[in-house]
Amino acid sequence: MPADLSPIDKAKFVAARRAVGYVENGMKLGLGTGSTAAWMVRCLAERIRDEGLRVVGVPTSTRTAELARQLGVPVTSLDDAKWLDLTIDGADEVDQGLNLIKGGGAALLQEKIVATASDQMIVIADWAKDVAQLGAFPLPVEVIPFGWQTTKALVEELLVSLDVLSHDVTLRMNGDRPLVTDEANYILDLHLRRIGNPRQLAMVLNQIPGVVENGLFIDICDIVIFGHSDGRVTVR
Ligand code: 5RP
Repeated sequence: MPADLSPIDKAKFVAARRAVGYVENGMKLGLGTGSTAAWMVRCLAERIRDEGLRVVGVPTSTRTAELARQLGVPVTSLDDAKWLDLTIDGADEVDQGLNLIKGGGAALLQEKIVATASDQMIVIADWAKDVAQLGAFPLPVEVIPFGWQTTKALVEELLVSLDVLSHDVTLRMNGDRPLVTDEANYILDLHLRRIGNPRQLAMVLNQIPGVVENGLFIDICDIVIFGHSDGRVTVR
């Protein structure tokens, strides 16, 4: 384990290291995005270097692609790989049914495409992401820039029609400009506090023209590995 890790980084690292233990020779892997996924890429690079592990990864963002290349993890596109054995990715929240909120790092679209094209998805996270109910973390929704304010109004109307109590919707910014995703879209963050029916919300959000995808991952994740600051991991 790297020396001098903060408690949260230690938790992320041990979760990532445990997940990388599931990787076998010849696997095609989805490589997630975020600080926990970055630990996974580092642990994977170590196994490639030390054990001669042969794998190829499909990164879910330009950030992850750059890190993988820097560390000598072979990468390819999803179109080349076609189908993946395993995706390992982080999450912003995980509920008891292994439903997730993702997209805190604005990579939810590629992350969902890659995870859905995988036989198995393992989520790695620090203990704080383990929640009884999703929704304290703002739900990211990727929208196309054209007419985004109209899309935002439609999302707000939808939330009212669903009797969602709190429905503050904000455009994610990068300084004084809208944040632009790898797919050249914008992100709306839905501040909902709690999501009563994540399955329903995930489906209806995607019916709105202008919405590309939302950060609710329902029935996609198979295993969650939570890391703890004392170095323990819990697998669910
Ligand atoms: C990026 C994501 C990340 O996996 C999620 O935000 C968790 O990030 P971190 O591991 O840095 O807490 O969904 O879009």
